[in-house]
Amino acid sequence: GLVRAKSAGSLGFKPISLSTEDRVLVPEGYTTNVVIRWGDPIGRGARRFDVNNWDVRSQENAFGYNVDYISWLPLPGYASGNSRRAILWANHEYTNPELMFPGYKPGSPSKEQVDIELAAHGGTAVEVRRNADGSIYYLPVSVYNRRITATTPMELSGPAAGHPLLQTKADPTGRRVLGMLNNCAGGTTPWGTILTAEENFNQYFAGNNALPEGPIKRSHTRYGLPEGNSGRRWELFYDRFDLTKEPNEPFRHGWIVEIDPYDPTSTPKKRTALGRFKHEGAETTVAPNGQVVVYMGDDERFDYLYKFVSKGRFNPADRKANMNLLDEGTLYVAKFNSDGTGVWLPLVQGNGPLTAANGFASQADVLINTRLAADLLGATKMDRPEDVERNPVTGAVYAVMTNNSRRTAAQVDAVNPRADNRHGHIVEILENGNDPTATTFRWALFLVCGEPSDPSTYFAGFPKDKVSPVSCPDNITFDQAGNMWIATDGQDGTFRKNDAVYAVPTQGPERGYVRQFMSAPVGAEICGPIFTLDNKNFFAGIQHPGEGGTLEKPVSSWPDGTNVPRPSVVAVRKLDGGVIGS
Ligand code: FEO
Ligand code: CA
Ligand code: CA
Ligand code: CA
Repeated sequence: GLVRAKSAGSLGFKPISLSTEDRVLVPEGYTTNVVIRWGDPIGRGARRFDVNNWDVRSQENAFGYNVDYISWLPLPGYASGNSRRAILWANHEYTNPELMFPGYKPGSPSKEQVDIELAAHGGTAVEVRRNADGSIYYLPVSVYNRRITATTPMELSGPAAGHPLLQTKADPTGRRVLGMLNNCAGGTTPWGTILTAEENFNQYFAGNNALPEGPIKRSHTRYGLPEGNSGRRWELFYDRFDLTKEPNEPFRHGWIVEIDPYDPTSTPKKRTALGRFKHEGAETTVAPNGQVVVYMGDDERFDYLYKFVSKGRFNPADRKANMNLLDEGTLYVAKFNSDGTGVWLPLVQGNGPLTAANGFASQADVLINTRLAADLLGATKMDRPEDVERNPVTGAVYAVMTNNSRRTAAQVDAVNPRADNRHGHIVEILENGNDPTATTFRWALFLVCGEPSDPSTYFAGFPKDKVSPVSCPDNITFDQAGNMWIATDGQDGTFRKNDAVYAVPTQGPERGYVRQFMSAPVGAEICGPIFTLDNKNFFAGIQHPGEGGTLEKPVSSWPDGTNVPRPSVVAVRKLDGGVIGS
C-alpha cells in the first residue's frame, strides 16, 4: 500500500559535479564510511585479506566480489526493528578475475581461481550497527552472517519445478540446483525476504554451437548463450557449465531467488512463477486488496518489462503465511501504445498464440521460455529495462531504460523515443485506478537523459539550465518523501566522467529537478541505493572499482590506497545527523 509522505518533496543539498577523481564524493555537509569490502571476514575460517595469499575457504567466509543490490533488514524483526541494528544484504553480481588474481591469464584460469570466483559470486547477509556518530559498521561474527555462493544448494519451486527441461544428470528431479549466477538488482518483500535477480547467466555456459538444431538450442540462442567458450572458462573444471555435457543447466538459471535472511539455515528458492529472463530486479508492492505485485525488467536491448501478480494475499499478521505467495499468480508483459495508454498481456498457457503447437504445452513451458512467449504476444521492445519500482508515496511506477545504442531511426517508438539511445530514459506508469493489479495503464516519459544542452533530453518539464547531466540510469530507490534516487552505470563511456547518484522529486514544483548527490571512484558503477527506515543513512554499492585496469596496471586504488581496488558498501550520513537530502 501507499505510505504518507513524512516531509515535503523538495531537496535541500547543494549538488556536486561530474568528476574523474578516484574517490567517493558527496555534497557539502555529508560524509561517508566504507561498511564492508571484498575479502572482509564475515565468519570464522577466513584468513586476513591478502590478494597474494587468498583461498577458497577464506572467500567462502568473506564478503564477495562486485556489490549490486543492497537491502536493509531491521533487527530484531522486519516489522519490529529500527535504524540502529539490521541485517545488510548485498548481491555479488560477478567477478573481475583480472583484479582478483595476480598474473591472471584470461582464457586459462587455474581450478583454484575458478573455485574462488564461484565463492565470490552470490550474496552476503551480515549484521550491521549504527555508531553514535551515525556511521555504520559490520559484525565479523553474528548468527545472521551468511554467504550464499554459486554452489549453495537451492530449491526450484513453483509451476516449472521438476519440468524435464530443468532435469540434469546431477539432478534428475529438476528441483535442486547449485547456486545463483550474476545477481544484479533485487527487491525486499513486505514480509522481509530478499528477492535477488539472476541477470546475465548466459555468459557462464559454453558450447551452444555444438548443440543439435532444435528447441533447446533455439531457446539458448534467444537468451544469448555464447557460441563457443565462456569468458571465465568454468567449463574447464565443471561439466554443468559445458552445454555438450549438460544442455539443460542454463534453464536452472535466470530466475528470481527468494532468500529469508532472518533464518540463516533456510534454503533459497528460485521462484519459477516469476518467469525466466535476464532479470534485473524484483521490487514489490501490495495492492489495495492485499495481492502482491512484483515489477521486473529484462535487461537486454529490445527486451521487455514484466509484472507478477500473486494469487494469494499478503497477511501482515502472519509472516509464515506469506512465505510461498510468489509460487502462484499471473505473469504479465507490457505493451505500450503510442497514445499514452498501455496494457499488461497475461503470459498464460492457452492465451492467444501460447499453445502446444507453438511449443507451449504447459505453464512451465511459458515460464521457462518467457522471452519466446512474450515475443509471440507482441510485447513492446524496450531500451534495456533495468530497475522498475513503485513510488511508495504516490503509487506511480517508474521503469528505467539504461540505454540502447542499437535502436535505429526506423525502430523509434513513442516509449523508446531516440535512435542511438546512449543516455537512457525513465518511463512513468500510472496503473488504472492506481491499483498495481490493473491490466491497463497510462504512461509518460519522466526523464530523457543526457547533457541538458542536448535538445533530445527532457526532465519532466523542469528548466534545463538548473539540472545536473545524467546518463545510463540503472538502479532507483525512493526516500520517505517520495523523491527518486538514481544510480548510474556507464557514464565513463558516455560522459568520460565517473558514475554517480542523483536525486529528483517526482511531484511538486521541483518535479524533474535532477541534482547530483554522489560520484564514484574510477571504473566503478554505483548500485543498490537504499535508505535506513529513518532515512538518516544512505547506502551505495561501489561495484567494480578499477574496471578497465588489472592488478599489474591499476586504474584505481580505492578504497585502501593500494593497487588492489575492492568492491564495497558505502554508508552516507549527514554531518548534523539529519535526514539525507533535507
Ligand atoms: Fe547488471 Fe542490468 O545491470
Ligand atoms: Ca543493474
Ligand atoms: Ca530499487
Ligand atoms: Ca547496468
